[in-house]
Amino acid sequence: MLVAEGAARYLDQLDDAAVSPPIAEPGAALAGPLPSKGTDALEAVRLLLTEAEQGATRSAGPRFFHFVMGGGTPAAVAADWLTSALDQIAFNWVSSPLAVRIEQITLGWLKELFGLPSDWSGVLTTGATMANFTCLAAARRWWGQQHGVDVEAAGLASLPPVPVLSSGHIHASALKALAELGIGRAQVRTLTPGPDRSTRSPRAGGSIDRQAHGPGDRDRHRRRGQRRRV
Ligand SMILES: Cc1ncc(COP(=O)(O)O)c(C=O)c1O
Repeated sequence: MLVAEGAARYLDQLDDAAVSPPIAEPGAALAGPLPSKGTDALEAVRLLLTEAEQGATRSAGPRFFHFVMGGGTPAAVAADWLTSALDQIAFNWVSSPLAVRIEQITLGWLKELFGLPSDWSGVLTTGATMANFTCLAAARRWWGQQHGVDVEAAGLASLPPVPVLSSGHIHASALKALAELGIGRAQVRTLTPGPDRSTRSPRAGGSIDRQAHGPGDRDRHRRRGQRRRV
């Protein structure tokens, strides 16, 4: 009740509130050394609510135009609260058939939405950063397979550097993932759009073939007349 009322109060003022917190030092009442005694649960929630009302960036509101938001809509808030109440260990069938089934259904809908083959597999990640990480891990594995190496077992040591091609708008989290996966953030080759909207490498000066999938593939596709410019 306390949280529901506090959340309702917060959400009610979102349409008109300034996005930046109205106070200079958010969280001031929480600062200080580690308390030697615990705080009553209701009291802790009350404190958090007060701090949030004063110190939260109003990113859930319509006046906020940065990042990719959406978790503060009424439906998302309800689903989020339910998620916490159900507290499922959602990573496999044994611990939560419900969560896995919902993931499978959602992935099916996404495949329909984006016109992807229905037999493709997928996974829901905790956010875009982990999606970048997961996709680059899959790419790293694929690169190993092209060279007959199981990267998860043998590591990257015997492989040539993984080529990474990107637009100039690569996200910081993708660079971080490249570093964490041992591919290396310095491997990124930044491409710029050419005059005919193909994508060009400033160093190589060539355009990139969207159909090229591995060493030699680009030539094979060109021979078959499948070359596409992106
Ligand atoms: C391409 C890309 N990667 C990563 C992120 C970070 O997202 P998250 O906070 O979900 O990890 C964003 C956020 O907008 C993004 O656009």
